[in-house]
Amino acid sequence: MTTVQFPNDFKWGTATAAYQIEGAFEEDGRGASIWDTFAKTPDKVLNGDTGDVACDSYHRIDDDIRLLKELGVSVYRFSIAWPRVYPQGRGELNPLGLTYYEELIDKLIANDIEPFVTLYHWDLPQALQDEGGWENRSTIDAFVTYAETVFHAFNGKVKRWITLNEPWCISILSNYMGAHAPGKQDLQAALDVAHHILVAHGLTVKRFRELSIEGEIGYAPNTEWRTAYSSSPEDVRATQLRNGSFNEWFLSPVLKGEYPELLTSWYESKGYKVKFEPGDMDIISEPIDFLGINYYTGSFIRYAEGNDLYNSEEISSSFAKTDFDWNIYADGFYNVLTWISATYGQIPIYITENGACYEAELQDGKVNDEARISFLHDHIMALHRAIESGVPIKGYMVWSLMDNFEWAFGYSKPFGLVHIDFETLARTPKASYYWYNQLASSNQLEI
Ligand code: BGC
Repeated sequence: MTTVQFPNDFKWGTATAAYQIEGAFEEDGRGASIWDTFAKTPDKVLNGDTGDVACDSYHRIDDDIRLLKELGVSVYRFSIAWPRVYPQGRGELNPLGLTYYEELIDKLIANDIEPFVTLYHWDLPQALQDEGGWENRSTIDAFVTYAETVFHAFNGKVKRWITLNEPWCISILSNYMGAHAPGKQDLQAALDVAHHILVAHGLTVKRFRELSIEGEIGYAPNTEWRTAYSSSPEDVRATQLRNGSFNEWFLSPVLKGEYPELLTSWYESKGYKVKFEPGDMDIISEPIDFLGINYYTGSFIRYAEGNDLYNSEEISSSFAKTDFDWNIYADGFYNVLTWISATYGQIPIYITENGACYEAELQDGKVNDEARISFLHDHIMALHRAIESGVPIKGYMVWSLMDNFEWAFGYSKPFGLVHIDFETLARTPKASYYWYNQLASSNQLEI
């Protein structure tokens, strides 16, 4: 057996998000978010599931920390729920909303686990959505105020911050495809949201610098890798449009100060455009310290007139699939990482999410999720190849520490290293948990 070695200071971790794990939806003054509303709207979430209880992590800090400690990770990525801190989105601060995070952060540090904090993982306060949400520019200021409050509360304890998780999901998936809260189907609204969240990101980074908050700040776009089905000019162009709309649309404004021209002219030819205000691109491109990258899947793309917005179709038949029916494409992970470095330069990267849904059952106290191990193995090897190719990757976080509320799919799609029984909330480490423990403790992968 051959092994490959990761850099000495490489960080291994796991990731979660507030609405997916916390529960305690009405406790200690928490306000409603767009996900409370969406989940309680008939037919939006499978089986009518909600995050009301989720993994009950709000009441189980010690259990969750023990799981992290025994897993041997050095970093834990979680998100803060804006509606706990400002129940109405702005205005009156709810100090109790910070207490849970303070205890979590203090206990993580006491256990030598670095807290890696996301400010926005999709739970916009409903009160702001009632005023137009991210389509309304005034939400930007509300976000910056919320971010400042959290920076002051945890300055010196948290050393790495993420402004936004997955801007493509916040904008296109939620406002054009309608699959996530608030469930709109309007491309112009989605482009407005995309622009406003990027401005909110940039202004937050500026405030972070102005306030001299300790540590580093970045954001976490989701990436996918599409390969042209053939070298025909039609397939190549369709693929450029798909990769451009997913990857470049959210990377180039921040890292190059511009939207990709291919896409702006494409959208304009269809009657849609970005609505700029003076100075927006300077704000958006305020330099960041690191890039968080989430990667799950990819596909082949073929030209298909009229099939979708980009005249393209996905050809997926030759890929093995996870239990979410997502293509397994580990080489795509390598391609994305090397492409980012080649296109945007040597910005440090943390893999802030990578993982897979597999529905292995709990039997005799064990969950044998070999398929997840194999998925992680192949992706971590692709990651190692990218490091060896010179991409400055500093850490890797599995999605997710535990099975949780998988958005529109409720509790039906488990991604965890730890199994959750959603009746009893009992936590049972899976085979992949022990496998990952080996990797994190040895800093070596057997290949
Ligand atoms: C999100 C997570 C989600 C995971 C699996 C990412 O898009 O950041 O919240 O659970 O993928 O779908």
